[in-house]
Amino acid sequence: MVMAIIAGTGFDRLGELEIDEEFLPETPWGPPAAALQRGHLGLSPVLFLSRHGHAHEYAPHAVNYRANLQALADAGATAILAVYTVGGISADLVPGSLVVAHDLVDYTWGREQSFSTVGNVIHVEFSDPYDAELRRRLVRAAQAQTGAGEPPVVDGGVYGCTQGPRLETAAEIDRMERDGCTVVGMTGMPEAGLARELGLPIAGISLVVNPAAGRGGISLDEMQQVAAAGRARIIRILAAALG
Ligand code: HPA
Repeated sequence: MVMAIIAGTGFDRLGELEIDEEFLPETPWGPPAAALQRGHLGLSPVLFLSRHGHAHEYAPHAVNYRANLQALADAGATAILAVYTVGGISADLVPGSLVVAHDLVDYTWGREQSFSTVGNVIHVEFSDPYDAELRRRLVRAAQAQTGAGEPPVVDGGVYGCTQGPRLETAAEIDRMERDGCTVVGMTGMPEAGLARELGLPIAGISLVVNPAAGRGGISLDEMQQVAAAGRARIIRILAAALG
């Protein structure tokens, strides 16, 4: 298995990664958001892609998801671990919580969401968007890396993917909660759908950095602290999940 990590906000460069090779491939869909990095996290070989670009150039709606996924597949990736930053919809998801979602709802629009072309129409099964074995690996690693007093790891949840880049209204979050969403982010789709079209199993770990709109506030300072602590925790989790 050749594992790829796609990570976004807060992970634009992975200082912990020992990089053996960095290359910017072309794909039929254009170049990916950033050069791919082939290297090691801990002892495990991995491909790394910064979803928004190393300088965070691309907003969630402007990411070339097809190029990102195609570039990883072309580089030999056979499975994907995705890292997302999200807002918490469920009341129990305090900032810093980690969620390994088992399902998603796609609210995005206008994004290139398929590798289908004229004459090559692709329909994939998508009842379970996330791979069960990869999810187990992430949950196990996350639980093992969680100390007493750290925010919880939640096994299961529904990732609602909004279009962004603006945040949601309180009424939109209420609707999403009625739809069954437990977290809200902007990048889970079409990424997971495209991975499925390529036959690449994918699972993701979501770091809750704020309560979703209408669910209580958080200061910018607090959010930055949560993000920094969560980032360090997720790097440890990824290294453990790869090993
Ligand atoms: N909504 C959407 N995406 C997000 C949020 C949010 O509240 N927090 C972090 N990413």
